[in-house]
Amino acid sequence: MIEDLQHQIMKLKKEKNACIVAHHYQTEDIQQIADFVGDSLALSKIAKQIKEDMIIFCGVKFMAETAKILSPHKKVILPVMEAGCPMADMVTPEQLRLVKKQYPHAEVVCYVNSSAEVKAESDICCTSSNAVSVINHLDAKQILFVPDQHLGAYAASQVKDKDIILWQGYCIVHHQLREEQLLHIKEKYPNAPILVHPECRPHIVRHADFVGSTAQIIDKARSIEQKQIIIGTERGVLYTLKKQNPHKEFILLSERLTCQNMKKTTLEHVRNALVNETHVVDVDENIRQKANRALERMISL
Ligand code: 13P
Ligand code: SF4
Repeated sequence: MIEDLQHQIMKLKKEKNACIVAHHYQTEDIQQIADFVGDSLALSKIAKQIKEDMIIFCGVKFMAETAKILSPHKKVILPVMEAGCPMADMVTPEQLRLVKKQYPHAEVVCYVNSSAEVKAESDICCTSSNAVSVINHLDAKQILFVPDQHLGAYAASQVKDKDIILWQGYCIVHHQLREEQLLHIKEKYPNAPILVHPECRPHIVRHADFVGSTAQIIDKARSIEQKQIIIGTERGVLYTLKKQNPHKEFILLSERLTCQNMKKTTLEHVRNALVNETHVVDVDENIRQKANRALERMISL
């Protein structure tokens, strides 16, 4: 059944001249049929280089929107419109406009996990893999960082001489990790390095041997000699980790590290998306141009 659907999708993809991209948090069967699997930064960059007319984006809404902002002439399809990101909804453009007035000299750094409208209100975007270098690159001494307080706090711990004002958003998946859980696993696997995503809370990050985006965690795991590695991010990364390191054991910090939104997309949805060409992602042109400026400024770094 899975193979049949995958076969149908591969055929349809050719007929429709479509490219399928997937985030590392998608289910394994989706990652298997994708032309590109990557983290948010890699997928943003790839979106600009895709030759096909249509991009089927297996991820959440802000990611498909980012692809549309960067590639306005492509048809960008999000198979499940309800696949959103709760953190992206924790900041609205109206709220951001109000807070910006309180900090007229601050530059706004916006994590890509945000709506097109919020990106349009921002000076520059960042992802979890480049937040520190983006902030270091800015001349402004005061930074308003939206919406992820934990990525912002991690970046603040890595940069000098900047006043970083944090928005109070967070990822509902990474935020739930507790220090006791981590200490318990650390005790069980004392020699295993701990690799975590910067969306985790500071009391998790401070125990980590490495902090990075999903792609950075995957790269790091390849170069580590130890055979057991503790992972503090969404379970979808385990697919690539195991494929690339068949002789290593990966221990997830919690069984609850599942992003329900990322798991909404199924093979049936992808097949239907190709057949019906739904749901098309569109961004108002005025908003798109402003958001594009913030994204392009990040990409050009
Ligand atoms: P990265 O793709 O930058 O690792 O971010 C993870 C994430 O939470 C995406 O929603
Ligand atoms: Fe949003 Fe967190 Fe899911 Fe990423 S993992 S899409 S930040 S809820």
